Amino acid sequence: MFFDFKNQVAIVTGAGGGLGRSYALALAARGASVVINDLNNAQAVVEEIIKNGGKAIANNGNVASNEDMQKMAAQAIDAYGRIDILVNNAGILRDKSFAKMQLEDFKAVMDVHLMGSVNASKAVLATMQDQQYGRIIMISSSSGLYGNFGQSNYGAAKMGVVGLMNTFKLEFKKYNIHVNTVVPIAATQMTENLMPEEALKILNPDLVSPAIVYLSAKEAPNGEIISAGGGSFARARIVESEALYLGNDASGEMIAENWSKITDPLGEKSIASGPEHSLKFISKAFSS
Ligand SMILES: NC(=O)c1ccc[n+]([C@@H]2O[C@H](COP(=O)([O-])OP(=O)(O)OC[C@H]3O[C@@H](n4cnc5c(N)ncnc54)[C@H](O)[C@@H]3O)[C@@H](O)[C@H]2O)c1
Repeated sequence: MFFDFKNQVAIVTGAGGGLGRSYALALAARGASVVINDLNNAQAVVEEIIKNGGKAIANNGNVASNEDMQKMAAQAIDAYGRIDILVNNAGILRDKSFAKMQLEDFKAVMDVHLMGSVNASKAVLATMQDQQYGRIIMISSSSGLYGNFGQSNYGAAKMGVVGLMNTFKLEFKKYNIHVNTVVPIAATQMTENLMPEEALKILNPDLVSPAIVYLSAKEAPNGEIISAGGGSFARARIVESEALYLGNDASGEMIAENWSKITDPLGEKSIASGPEHSLKFISKAFSS
């Protein structure tokens, strides 16, 4: 098996450095023409790709601006005629405990990570629908999935992109547009002060790119979350325990008394959609 992106066009946001640069180089090395979006350094990555024999153009748009993202998609179409892959990677941090955080810093992070992913996805969608083909990759974080002290803004935005994927995977499936999420762990300017030196040595950003390559391929699944770092890969899922029916007389006290049954991990399952979740509870009441 070899994933070949010849004649395909990829947009990677925030690709002027760190993980985004590595994703862009990996896609270009497999033949994709790549739009390198970043506020900084985009042209340098373009030159690196061209030096390696690949195809790339630079875009300096701000992902938080819908207008800039529309322009970026138009630029990709003008240069290459189609858009097959979008990696929503651009990001910033404004860490502080929630008690001390200014709301401007909360909003700035939401604007780049969550609205940036919304804006770029919106900008490429009509093209991908017309093509009846597309691969969109959200970039989340363990801070969103599991929490991290000082990162309420970042965690909320990074779980927000998972929510976006959960509905996109349903809405875009009929157009053969698959939407997945990567949770990276890598040594970059974003993490240099957050992890010990020894750990950073293991976490080469290039070791996350295989997950991007897989999720950019025709063979990509739909609606999955892949954690990737230091050469290891895992699938993350939201699961729910089997519901315990307590009937029409259910009370808070009954929940407390039955807490060990309600939280029994045996029978935990992930759920494919909101309606499937409702059905679970309706059938439970019917069958009890
Ligand atoms: N490094 C990790 O371990 C890690 C872990 C979890 C998630 N992530 C996520 O991976 C992505 C890449 O992070 P990284 O570690 O490579 O960090 P990074 O800071 O090296 O890269 C982020 C890039 O995004 C660009 N950018 C910032 N705001 C932008 C905007 N408004 N418009 C366009 N570009 C913008 C920056 O200039 C920068 O080049 C981010 O979304 C980050 O949250 C990283």
